[in-house]
Amino acid sequence: MSKRIVLIGGGGFIGHNLALELNRLGNDVTIIDFLSINNFTTLLADSSRIFALYRKMLLERFDMLQWVKVPIFPVDARDYHQLSLAVAKIKPDVIIHLAAVAHIDRSNKDPYSTFDHSYRTLENALDVARALETPHFIFFSSSTAYGNFSAPVLDETAHCSPFGIYGTLKLNGENSVISHNQVFDLPYTIIRPCALYGPRCISGRVIQKFIEAGLAGEDINIQGDGKDREDFTYIADLIDGVVRIIDQPENSIGEIFNITAGEARGIGELAFHVKQHFPETTITYSDRDNMKPMRGTLSVEKAKRMLGYSPKYTLEKGLEEYIDWYRGFWPKEMGGKWTERNKVA
Ligand SMILES: NC(=O)c1ccc[n+]([C@@H]2O[C@H](COP(=O)([O-])OP(=O)(O)OC[C@H]3O[C@@H](n4cnc5c(N)ncnc54)[C@H](O)[C@@H]3O)[C@@H](O)[C@H]2O)c1
Repeated sequence: MSKRIVLIGGGGFIGHNLALELNRLGNDVTIIDFLSINNFTTLLADSSRIFALYRKMLLERFDMLQWVKVPIFPVDARDYHQLSLAVAKIKPDVIIHLAAVAHIDRSNKDPYSTFDHSYRTLENALDVARALETPHFIFFSSSTAYGNFSAPVLDETAHCSPFGIYGTLKLNGENSVISHNQVFDLPYTIIRPCALYGPRCISGRVIQKFIEAGLAGEDINIQGDGKDREDFTYIADLIDGVVRIIDQPENSIGEIFNITAGEARGIGELAFHVKQHFPETTITYSDRDNMKPMRGTLSVEKAKRMLGYSPKYTLEKGLEEYIDWYRGFWPKEMGGKWTERNKVA
């Protein structure tokens, strides 16, 4: 069924991919994003070559969205009145909240801004949703809400004990969403994704860094001993899960879902697989970032049972598709050493 869907923070990596798919499926999709966090404004101040490449990726995102006529409202979701006016005009059936400083390191470096963009935007969105009696509010939480994994596989009933700014704000966000249901009957779904990767991502997470190292002929550097594990999830699987959540409100409302590949893999194993694509690279090691939680597999049994979710991308398959895309995007004249990688404003 065609629905009016608003994506707050929809100009980001997940949001634009989700908007394209929801649009393809015949929904009426609108993006609200002021493009200033991990987006155009962030990149404008930096003249490094990798940021020039990321700007190209952003342009491609917006070309693709414009091509299929998905509108983008450049509204700062911290501004309640602007957000309220923009969403009220649309009167959506579904509001999806994605806006955030979506990065563990960056959140810890700038808690104030993280609170503002992740939590204040959420409170504003919740208030707008309850005022408009929006039939379905979807919040993007994170696997970091669990904190250090207490077992190799966690399902949604596991105790959440986050540490650091990012995971803590995500769990606070979940509680705020649930409290709006308790007080105002707001119908909601909470999604806990993990370690997404895929085309047009500019976030510089580990898979992207490893592939860029391979493309530039640099070392693949593992932080730690390579035994850390993450439930790496290809973007197409996540999008499929979200589409199911939207299409099956009778099964998804009032629920929390892990939506991941459902199989954690080691960082050392990841490096090995990336190296298969770039045999000339060397794997090196440096200190682990101890603010990263120790993670494992997020069980997707609940999503399988209730939504018919069935992830299709193993790490090997996802890497193949992503590397293929990145090779096509990587400008030939840019071969060689790029020294300013991942410098973030
Ligand atoms: N990518 C992952 O691996 C991952 C994993 C778990 C959870 N998540 C969550 O999913 C959501 C989307 O992640 P992403 O990877 O697409 O991040 P992203 O950084 O690519 O996108 C976030 C978007 O939010 C926008 N935004 C931030 N503050 C805003 C504001 N005040 N007003 C309007 N827009 C604003 C930014 O401009 C950006 O386009 C986030 O909430 C993130 O925490 C992501």
